Amino acid sequence: MIDPKLRVLISSEQIQARIREMGEQISNDFPKGNLHLICILKGACFFLTDLARAMKRDVFVDFMGISTYGKGKTTSGEVKVTKDLDISLEGADVVIVEDIVDSGVTLTYLLHVLEQRKPRSLQIAALLDKPERRLRPVTAKYVGFQIPDEFVVGYGLDYAEKYRNLDAICVLEDSGAAVTA
Ligand code: IMP
Ligand code: MG
Repeated sequence: MIDPKLRVLISSEQIQARIREMGEQISNDFPKGNLHLICILKGACFFLTDLARAMKRDVFVDFMGISTYGKGKTTSGEVKVTKDLDISLEGADVVIVEDIVDSGVTLTYLLHVLEQRKPRSLQIAALLDKPERRLRPVTAKYVGFQIPDEFVVGYGLDYAEKYRNLDAICVLEDSGAAVTA
């Protein structure tokens, strides 16, 4: 895609290679038992589909809708469940599949909500991690790439619902509003 505002930070090839490694690692960590991948909509859906297919074992896939960010780059700080899971998590190994850990507000809330469903274990797989932006002490066990404090789009991540279908992760430059959390 030719857009002067976009600078490629992580190429499609790099993303795919890293996801193959993550799929193998998670499969090895959970050789048996029920393993649920919980996709956090909408940003993580591209990551989920590639990660699930990189797994060397059977997995359950379910979706949860959460909204934190408004239409642009600023967050309201409010977390809201917009779609709940279909499948029970009781006794299962659960991996939350998220696009990016930024302030950690969303995942802190989600961990709290999902722990109450009595899973056997609960971990986070995030494609991206911006550790500099953390406001809550959240640690993802599986991280694709650590990135600097820049607003990124593509491979599921959006700016005002745009750019999700880019196959690379790109920095969105010169777009006005500063990112605040
Ligand atoms: P947190 O609650 O601040 O950790 O925010 C997590 C959510 O904010 C992610 O699931 C994304 O939807 C969104 N987000 C955070 N940083 C970015 C970014 O650089 N680009 C696009 N969305 C982002
Ligand atoms: Mg998201």
